[in-house]
Amino acid sequence: MRAAVYSRFGGPENVRVEQLPRPPVRPDDVLVRVCASTVSAADHRARSREVPRGLGLLAAAGIGAFRPKRRVLGMDLAGVVEAVGAGVTRFRPGDEVVAMPGAEFGGHAEFARVRQDGAIALKPRTMTFEDAVALVFGGLTARGFLDQVDLAPGARVLVNGASGAVGTAAVQLATHAGAHVTGVCSGGNRDLVTSLGADRVIDHTTDDFAAGPARYDVIVDCVGNAPFERVGHLLDPGGALLLVIADLPGILRAPWRSRTTGKRVIATVGKPTAEDLAFLVDLAEAGSYRAVRDRTYDLADIAEAHRYVDTGRKRGNVVVRIAAGGPARSTPAQGSPAASPNTDS
Ligand SMILES: NC(=O)c1ccc[n+]([C@@H]2O[C@H](COP(=O)([O-])OP(=O)(O)OC[C@H]3O[C@@H](n4cnc5c(N)ncnc54)[C@H](OP(=O)(O)O)[C@@H]3O)[C@@H](O)[C@H]2O)c1
Repeated sequence: MRAAVYSRFGGPENVRVEQLPRPPVRPDDVLVRVCASTVSAADHRARSREVPRGLGLLAAAGIGAFRPKRRVLGMDLAGVVEAVGAGVTRFRPGDEVVAMPGAEFGGHAEFARVRQDGAIALKPRTMTFEDAVALVFGGLTARGFLDQVDLAPGARVLVNGASGAVGTAAVQLATHAGAHVTGVCSGGNRDLVTSLGADRVIDHTTDDFAAGPARYDVIVDCVGNAPFERVGHLLDPGGALLLVIADLPGILRAPWRSRTTGKRVIATVGKPTAEDLAFLVDLAEAGSYRAVRDRTYDLADIAEAHRYVDTGRKRGNVVVRIAAGGPARSTPAQGSPAASPNTDS
């Protein structure tokens, strides 16, 4: 099979397409013929080994110390079940699915395997593979964090980094829960974030949200520049700071802050589940959750996709098209030419 592989940490030029054997199918595995995946912030981190302060050792344990432990990146996928292991009862060949292999990676290849008890669900019938895959990485992360707080209707939620993969998902999920949402992004992304449901948008290039008088019940930091020291005073008592990205000191101090300040600081998230993914799929099918897709690249142009993600300015998700056009049963892809901006969002 064709797969995007890397064998040393560094820049996008280290990723190239090669032939690899298909992953063997174990008894609980679902083997998926991958139609689309995304190049995510996590792929950027795993490829470059650029991780927040203090997390180098942990990263080495997860992704490798000197060489990558897993040669194929790609934390998410949308595709068609090709084969299942002897113990698989929930899926069968031909099913159209979305899945998050997560830290196992492997999505940037023609075939990838996911455990049947992992985060895998039938794909929304209303979406192309390329749109459907854009629900997975940001959607599951945002849900994993937001699920740890009580989002009552009318709750005031600020999403810092509202135009990225996790931010666009957090804005949509908080809006769906009935929250009053403030999004922080650059001015060029104001319309996007508003269209996803934000009631108010703050342009971080001209205004410092931490200096304003507004108070919030929940702050979601998807940028890494909103530690408790900077934004804790914006939270009302009982409020919560969700650190989607934090350095080691921020992670270690979170439980202590929660015990001593009357405000919760949450810096960890559980493993995504099939139920979480099915929740996102249901929302999408009901028209209450939108795929936010920035550029789409063919697998052959994977290094270009990494280069674009490395800018740190992508809007939502950067999609990699793997099986051209998908299987005959799929909805035709709404796409743009390879390696060209797609303005779905
Ligand atoms: N804890 C976890 O399990 C977990 C899971 C997933 C991701 N993460 C981490 O969470 C972070 C966000 O992930 P992502 O996928 O959403 O990243 P992303 O899609 O690459 O984020 C890109 C967005 O960040 C925005 N941005 C950059 N600087 C900003 C600033 N100063 N203020 C506000 N927005 C800014 C950009 O908006 P503008 O161009 O408009 O500025 C752009 O739209 C990453 O660091 C990732 O590693 C953690």
